[in-house]
Amino acid sequence: MKYGYFDDTAKEYVITDPRTPAKWVNYIGTIRFGGLVDHTGGALLCAGDPALNRILKYIPQLPESEPKGETLYLRIRENGSYKILSPFFTPTLDDYDDFACHVGLGYQRIVSRSHGIRTDVLIFVPNDSPVEIRDIKITNEGNKPVEIDLIPLVEYSHFEALKQFTNADWVPQTMMSEADRDENGLLILKQFPFMRKETKHNFFTSNHPVDSFESDRARFLGNNEYATWQAPEALKKESFSNYEARRGNNIGALLHKLGTLAPGESKRIITQLGQAKAEEVAGLVHRYRDEKNVASAFRELASFWDDYLSKFSCETPDEAFNTTVNVHNPRQCYMTLNWSRYLSLYQLGLGSRGLGFRDSSQDTMGAVAGAPGEVKDLLRKLISVQNPDGSAMHQFFPLSMEATEGDALEEGHKLVYGDDHLWSILAVCAYVKETGDYDFLREKVTFYDKKLPLEKRASAPVLEHLLRALDYTKTHTGMHGLPLLGFADWNDTVNLLGDAESLFNAHLYGKGLLEIMDLLEYLGETAKVTELREDYEVMRKHVNEHAWDGEWFIRYFTEKGEPIGSSSNTEGKIYTNAQSWAVLSGFAEGERVNKALDSVFTHLNTAHGIKLSSPGYTRFDSEIGGVSTYPPGAKENGGIFLHSNPWVMIAETMRGNGDRAYKYYLQINPAAKNDDIDTYEIEPYVYAQNILGDEHPQFGLGRNSWLSGTASWTYQAATQYILGIQPTHQGLRIDPCIPSAWNGFKVRRVFRDATYIIEVDNSENICSGVATVELNGTLLDSNTIPVQEPGSENRVVVTMRKATSNADAPPIARAATVS
Ligand code: GLC
Repeated sequence: MKYGYFDDTAKEYVITDPRTPAKWVNYIGTIRFGGLVDHTGGALLCAGDPALNRILKYIPQLPESEPKGETLYLRIRENGSYKILSPFFTPTLDDYDDFACHVGLGYQRIVSRSHGIRTDVLIFVPNDSPVEIRDIKITNEGNKPVEIDLIPLVEYSHFEALKQFTNADWVPQTMMSEADRDENGLLILKQFPFMRKETKHNFFTSNHPVDSFESDRARFLGNNEYATWQAPEALKKESFSNYEARRGNNIGALLHKLGTLAPGESKRIITQLGQAKAEEVAGLVHRYRDEKNVASAFRELASFWDDYLSKFSCETPDEAFNTTVNVHNPRQCYMTLNWSRYLSLYQLGLGSRGLGFRDSSQDTMGAVAGAPGEVKDLLRKLISVQNPDGSAMHQFFPLSMEATEGDALEEGHKLVYGDDHLWSILAVCAYVKETGDYDFLREKVTFYDKKLPLEKRASAPVLEHLLRALDYTKTHTGMHGLPLLGFADWNDTVNLLGDAESLFNAHLYGKGLLEIMDLLEYLGETAKVTELREDYEVMRKHVNEHAWDGEWFIRYFTEKGEPIGSSSNTEGKIYTNAQSWAVLSGFAEGERVNKALDSVFTHLNTAHGIKLSSPGYTRFDSEIGGVSTYPPGAKENGGIFLHSNPWVMIAETMRGNGDRAYKYYLQINPAAKNDDIDTYEIEPYVYAQNILGDEHPQFGLGRNSWLSGTASWTYQAATQYILGIQPTHQGLRIDPCIPSAWNGFKVRRVFRDATYIIEVDNSENICSGVATVELNGTLLDSNTIPVQEPGSENRVVVTMRKATSNADAPPIARAATVS
């Protein structure tokens, strides 16, 4: 691959050319303390909330050549002059002999070689400490002694991220830095928001004596700032000014004079950037000045990831599939669990967003096997911003737990989003199926009410929250008996006025009903199941009576009852989600399943993925809203909105078409993008939110990588529907729907604390159809393996066979064929 390669043994992607078409990033730490690190060492860190407690100033809109948030300089002293180098390539942009940015699990490691100096920087956040560690090792690989200075640098943001950009007097007047020495005389540079020194403050320090420091950017670059990051004035002087900033753009630049390194000699410096209460700083600093503690913190980080990834791994004939499913996709799921759509290079975490109800609910489903505890905590938070009427607030700020309706407050819209509340049903059901933690359903959680303090808010058991969500949709329907759209459904950008109806909401409601019925059936609450089954049938009837267009399903009805996503429209004739979700909900009847999915293939598929709709809207239409603000082919307007692709994959597996499902999987797998990476531009190790569609001149260009529901859903599609290893209330169901070219595959799955080593034989080269399942040598009469003893290790042998009318061993399961 042009810019790097996958190192599957180290579970890394290694970037070998820093001139990637866009910044390629990784995440370190968690939302409690952490953020993103780009491949040239820049970092955007925050603690608890990127809008309310930001630490570093990272402005993605600046040119890629600028350092952002953090950087590192080396200064080589040669015959009385200095050679300034950046081991991260930016900002000095010098030639280098070698460059390797190892994008690892929760860490970034940048190793480069230039002018005979090798610099190896490991960047990570320990599991339990609010500190970013940069463990720097400098080696003189040349054959002459070299005198070297090392200057790590950070640039701070105002803690209220947006204020940094809205006020250029008040903000800088509040930014202050102070230098402190610890008992060993080592420098700790502290940075305060306001003069409130009793609260937490930022600190930057290292385990090596500091000659001098700068804390004011103007002094570092050159007083009038007409100097550049490439050649800062301060680096031309013997020492820095030691000025403690009382205003301005606060930075921390620590000048370390390492002295002379003999050929082959190395020096190791550890820097720490953290945020803590004054009384906690000394302890943290002390702990991570010690190389042994840093090494053990890094081992603990690795064991967190080992454990997280140990719940599922596979060996299939497709290397790119294995790489994505075993490492990069689940890692992305964990990051979306943490960051929702809040902080990335595209979603800048500045103000109004927070964690989304709809987004985070879906995120939990991709991370539930690896991080059930964190998922449970997030589910509680999400449910606590559900309104008493069953609808939900659109988003909330994780630090303050203040929730908002999001854009639904726009003038002319009287209802909230019509889908949000329904997603929590899918999320909670996935959680209990995975964990067996049925007590959670009885746990009381409050409803949201901005006007009341927490202790006065009404509360109800989690299950009741879910039933109210169903009830809200049941009681908010329009002229065809279909659920109202509200401000929008999953597609944020179609904002129809009045009592428009949404087929997405209808299907999500249907899927929610299926999940709850399955759960209540398991819990033995049959009367309630009978009642809900009637609701399901009523909606199924409305959908099939009103929304079938002849070749595919309609997507919306306007308040006047006019269809959108119908052959009678001139633009936006067909929408992907109306087809996939008609299958996921089980509402699509008979041949309509095949017709709807074949229409997706015929009208919406491209070599880079499935488009969200077609054709794109060519002019702004205030009656349809935001979707018509993008040019055709971009984002929701006929772009390849990747989040919707796995839903089609799942629907294809539900009709047994493993070849088609896999084709869809492969065409968006970032690890398989080797050949057109210059068109795609973004990270090959994570999914993006969108790729420009074939109506756009830049067809194939990816944007908005990392924080997308694509992560959770492709992971579910791959593990539960293609490989077909599905957690159920009763046990682990095995129902693969794979490409017929595969002769079989292996999976290691840890489910409810028992391990299953599963081997699937597909020597007849079919897509689906399980003939036999053997558990520890005994044939089962079903393809659902009952829950086994915690701690046990179980061998499962599965054979797939063609269904024949008089077979000796008729299949015990087929990939659920849809009626
Ligand atoms: C963005 C939003 C998500 C929405 C999608 C489609 O990804 O975060 O909530 O469903 O766009 O509009």
